[in-house]
Amino acid sequence: MVPPLNIFILSGAGVSAESGLKTFRDADGLWTQTDLAQLATPEGFARDPVRVREFYSARRKILRIAAPNRAHLALARLEREMTALGGSVFLCTQNVDDLHERAGGQRVVHMHGELNVTACTLCSGHWTDRGPLTAQQVCAECGAVGTCRPNVVWFGEMPMHMDRINQALEEADLFVAIGTSGSVYPAAGFVAEARALGVATCEINLQRSDNAHAFDRRIYGPASEKVTAWVAEVLGD
Ligand code: APR
Repeated sequence: MVPPLNIFILSGAGVSAESGLKTFRDADGLWTQTDLAQLATPEGFARDPVRVREFYSARRKILRIAAPNRAHLALARLEREMTALGGSVFLCTQNVDDLHERAGGQRVVHMHGELNVTACTLCSGHWTDRGPLTAQQVCAECGAVGTCRPNVVWFGEMPMHMDRINQALEEADLFVAIGTSGSVYPAAGFVAEARALGVATCEINLQRSDNAHAFDRRIYGPASEKVTAWVAEVLGD
């Protein structure tokens, strides 16, 4: 008999690595190859908006040909079946890709925003957009020209949906971090909050994360393999 659990999942770039999307801090990671201050800060965008728009347009192009991997599919299965059992899965992702949704995830909370959404710096309007970001784009909400940016959270900006995230942490029976280095706050602090609430914690990663010590249980290996096996264990296969 599988007990209904409220499971809080925190996913990071490692869950999408086997779909061909680069992580940030691995040897070939985005921030290992380029200076995040130039590409992922409001100051960098103000200094060189053309370069920043090109960087995110290139990531949109790569995402269009990427596909969810077995880890994304396993998490979508967990959400479906745990919900059917009377439990819940709150999938908080640091990722800006849409692979959790394309795998069938229904309750995906993007705390760092979404790559396939464009925002207007003038009116804060935002809309789904999979095409290139350019200075000629017209805001779909206010009609301004040249005010478009990717609707992602840059360093120095406030993460999104924090009220919902804190509420879900308080309601969780189990906290599982998947494919994240545990190096960026506030996400990296969620495991300590979970522990303080008496919630069981587990990390599933290719290698020990920066906050591995904080987890009750640790599973190491490729997400496509280890997440699939862990979901099967939780669902009593
Ligand atoms: N399976 C499981 N884990 C993997 C795999 C894999 N196939 N490949 C890499 N990993 C692990 C790495 O070992 C690393 O610990 O995924 C983690 C990725 O860490 P980061 O590159 O730091 O990505 P992430 O933790 O998501 O970064 C957090 O930092 O720059 C910001 O906004 C950005 O959301 C991002 C945040």
